[in-house]
Amino acid sequence: SELDLDSILAFAIKLALEAGEKIKAGQENRFASESASQDEKVNSVDLVTEVDKAVEKFIVEKISEAYPDHKFIGEESYDGQQITDEPTWIGSPIDGTTNFIHGFPMVCTSIGLTVKGVPVVGVIYNPFLDQLYSAAKGRGAYLNQKQKLPITGRIKPLASLGQALIATEYGSERSPPALPRKIRAFEKLTAHTDVGGKMVHALRSLGSAAINIALVASGGLDMYWEVGCWPWDVTAGICILYEAGGAAFGGKTSPSTGDVDAGLLAGRKYLLVRGIAPTQSETTLQVQQR
Ligand code: IPD
Repeated sequence: SELDLDSILAFAIKLALEAGEKIKAGQENRFASESASQDEKVNSVDLVTEVDKAVEKFIVEKISEAYPDHKFIGEESYDGQQITDEPTWIGSPIDGTTNFIHGFPMVCTSIGLTVKGVPVVGVIYNPFLDQLYSAAKGRGAYLNQKQKLPITGRIKPLASLGQALIATEYGSERSPPALPRKIRAFEKLTAHTDVGGKMVHALRSLGSAAINIALVASGGLDMYWEVGCWPWDVTAGICILYEAGGAAFGGKTSPSTGDVDAGLLAGRKYLLVRGIAPTQSETTLQVQQR
């Protein structure tokens, strides 16, 4: 049966706002507590806290109460599930966990729904800045449910990467070949000049894939490029980005070689993330091996 995307969006917004409150309270508790916590996952810079786990548990419970037939793939409970055609919620309880631990306010909860692998609902909520980005397929993308995205005047067609503001991330994968690829791309982007001699204006690393994507959707960034995102980092963001008129690319070309193809990018708003295969007009998500 047809899904009621409007009511699903309203549900997801409420859920993200509630998760945000838990994230804020969780941070206050952490900063007030004397005991050191053990936050390391795959390596010493891949971090998870008890708050990530508690918030994911909360999100899963709410979704399974409201939509018992839907599937869920979450960052903290992921054990190799693939995205199928079934309605599948894909989320990260805290995107920007390192920021959360340090008190750097680029932290959000990111909740998306895919149907047939296509993101159809997306909500990203930063409780520290009280910014809510949301979208449902065919209904546009909004900041704080009022401001239509992209924000008027922010999108200026770029003739090339010259004068672009671009987000990139180092991520937690620091061993070869990943790190040299990332560094090479950062170098190329920094040194890139277009035919008119204009340079990339600057690179930014905010520490949250979802916030980077939301900022591309709003027009505050021209592009986001990263090697090594996971579906829970990007599902909500891709829905928001598409509804704001942006585009997402991934797969074999640029991300796997670490090269940013300036020709391909020229003049448009772009997001490039690994693990996403674009189709004609929609992005279908795939899970890669961890
Ligand atoms: C990570 C952040 C980071 C990005 C990684 C993500 P986490 O998510 O978004 O900025 O570089 O690719 O996995 O670990 O904070 O949930």
